Amino acid sequence: MESYWITALCSFGAIILSAIWIRRRSWEQLPNYRGLPVFGNMFQVKRERPELTFTEWAKDLGPVFSVKMLLKQFVVLISFEAIYEALVKKGKSFSDRATKDAFRMGKLSDQFVNIVSMPANSTWVKLRKVCHKKIKMYDTGMKRIEDISTGTINHLIEAFKNTKQESFNPSDYIYMYNTVMNTIMTLLLCRTFSTDSGIFKKIAHFEQGFRLNILPAGRGAELDFCPWLRFFGNETYKQIQSLVEVRNQIWELIKEEALRGDKLLQENEEDVRLVTALKDAMAEEDSELSEKNLRGAVIIDIVFAGTSTTSNSLCIYLNIITRHPEVQTKLQEEVDKVVGSEIMATIPELLRYSSVAPLGATHMSHEDTDIQGKNPQPERFLGDDGGLVSASHHNRRHLMPFGAGPRVCLGEVLAKSRIFLIITSLAQKFDILPGKVSAPCDPRLLLHGAVLSSAKFEIVAKQRM
Ligand code: HEM
Ligand SMILES: *[C@@H]1O[C@H](CO)[C@@H](O)[C@H](O)[C@H]1NC(C)=O
Ligand SMILES: *[C@@H]1O[C@H](CO)[C@@H](O)[C@H](O)[C@H]1NC(C)=O
Repeated sequence: MESYWITALCSFGAIILSAIWIRRRSWEQLPNYRGLPVFGNMFQVKRERPELTFTEWAKDLGPVFSVKMLLKQFVVLISFEAIYEALVKKGKSFSDRATKDAFRMGKLSDQFVNIVSMPANSTWVKLRKVCHKKIKMYDTGMKRIEDISTGTINHLIEAFKNTKQESFNPSDYIYMYNTVMNTIMTLLLCRTFSTDSGIFKKIAHFEQGFRLNILPAGRGAELDFCPWLRFFGNETYKQIQSLVEVRNQIWELIKEEALRGDKLLQENEEDVRLVTALKDAMAEEDSELSEKNLRGAVIIDIVFAGTSTTSNSLCIYLNIITRHPEVQTKLQEEVDKVVGSEIMATIPELLRYSSVAPLGATHMSHEDTDIQGKNPQPERFLGDDGGLVSASHHNRRHLMPFGAGPRVCLGEVLAKSRIFLIITSLAQKFDILPGKVSAPCDPRLLLHGAVLSSAKFEIVAKQRM
C-alpha cells in the first residue's frame, strides 16, 4: 500500500494543513483547485491565515479536499465528521507528526524530541504520560499549589487596581501573561518569579519571538521545504537561531532553580514539581529519555504551549468583553450569585470564537462557517433550562479548540480551569471598559502567528462597588 505522509494537526510551526495518511490514489481523486506547476496552489492561499481560504474553498469543494503546495500534497478536513473520523475514530493512524519538510520545528525542537513534535513512538508516550500525571495533580487541590495559585490571581487583581482606572494595555507582560506564566512555573518548580527576574524576561522574549515569527504557513515557511535558503541569510532562520539560544538559556536557569528547590525541600515534604518527575523518569532504567527530551518538553510543551495559548485567549477575551457589556453584565450576575452556568457557557464560546491555535484545532469544523458571525453568543452553549448544555450536545461536541484523540492538547483541563478562575475573579472585582486604544476583535483580523493574538488595545478596569 502506497501511503503518503503529511503533518497532523499541529499548530506549533509544523506545516500548513491538517492532513492525513491517505493512499496516493485516493488523494488524487479528491476535489481540488488546479494550481501552477511546481508551486501548486501556493499563490491562491492566504498564507498568513490559510484556514480562512480553506473555509471559503470548502463551500465549493466540500469538507474534504486536497491542496498542493510546492510539490507536496495536503488534505484539508473541514467538517466535524471528517475531523472526528481522522482524530478520534482512526486516531491511532493519524497521531503521527511529520519530521520531513519541517525544518523550522526540527531546529526549535532539537530534532523532534519533545511532545508536540515527536512522532507517535514509545518515547512520546512516556514523556506525555509523565507530564500529564503532574498536570492532573495540579488541579486536585494540593494545598501548596492552591496557595501559590491564589497568590498569583490576587497579584493580578492588585495590578489591575494599580492602574487607577487609567487606560492600559492588558497584553503587557505584567498582566495576563504574568498570571499564566506563574501558574506554569508553579507546576514546574513550585514557585513564582517576578516580572523583573532574568528568567521571566527570557521566557517572555521567547514567547513573543515564537508566537510572531514561526508562522505555520506564512512568512518563512519556505524554509521547511527548502532549508538551504538559510545560506542566503534568511531572516526567519536568524530568528530561529536566536530562539534556540534563548531556549537553551532558559533551560539552564530552570535547572539551577530546580537545584535550589531541592535544597529548600523540607524533610517528609512531597516533591510535587514537574521538573522532578521528569528527572526521575529520565533516571529510570531503560527510560529512553535524555536531557534533550526534558529540555524540549519543559520549554516548548509546557512553558511555550502552556503560556502563549492561555494568555492570548485571555487578552482576546478582555477585548471582546469591552464591546459586549451585556455579556459582561450577565457574567457578573452569575458570579455574584455564586458561579453558575452563564460563565460555564462563556468559556467554550471564548475558545470557539478566538481559536488561538486554528490550524491545530478545528474552527474549520463549524459546518455553518460561524466564523462569519461577528457577535459572540455564549447562549449557544446554554440549554432551555438555562444550564450549560451537556458534553454530548451538538454545539459542544463540535467545538474542538484543543484537538481530539490521542494527540489532544495536554493542558486542556489546566487551561480551562485557569481561564475559569481568572475570568470569574476579574468579573467579580471589575467592570472592564474600552480604553484609549482599540483593536478589532473579529477573529479573522487577529494577528497571525504560531498562536493568534490581538493587535494592541487598551482597557480600563473600573472597580465594582
Ligand atoms: C487556551 C489554551 C490552549 C489551547 C487553545 C490549546 C490548543 C492545542 C491544540 C489545538 C493542540 C493540537 C492538538 C492536535 O494535534 O490535535 C495542542 C497540543 C498541545 N498542547 Fe495545548 N492548548 C492550550 C493550552 C495548553 C497548556 C496550558 C499546555 C501545557 C501545560 C498545553 C500543552 C500542549 C501540548 C504538550 C500539546 C501537544 C500534544 C501532543 O502532540 O501529544 N496546551 N494544544
Ligand atoms: C521517537 O522519535 C524521536 C524523534 O524522531 C527519536 O529521537 C526517538 O529516539 C524515538 N524513540 C523511539 C523509541 O524510537
Ligand atoms: C526569508 O525570511 C524573510 C523574513 O522572515 C521572508 O520574508 C523571506 O521570504 C524568506 N525567504 C527568502 C527566500 O528570503
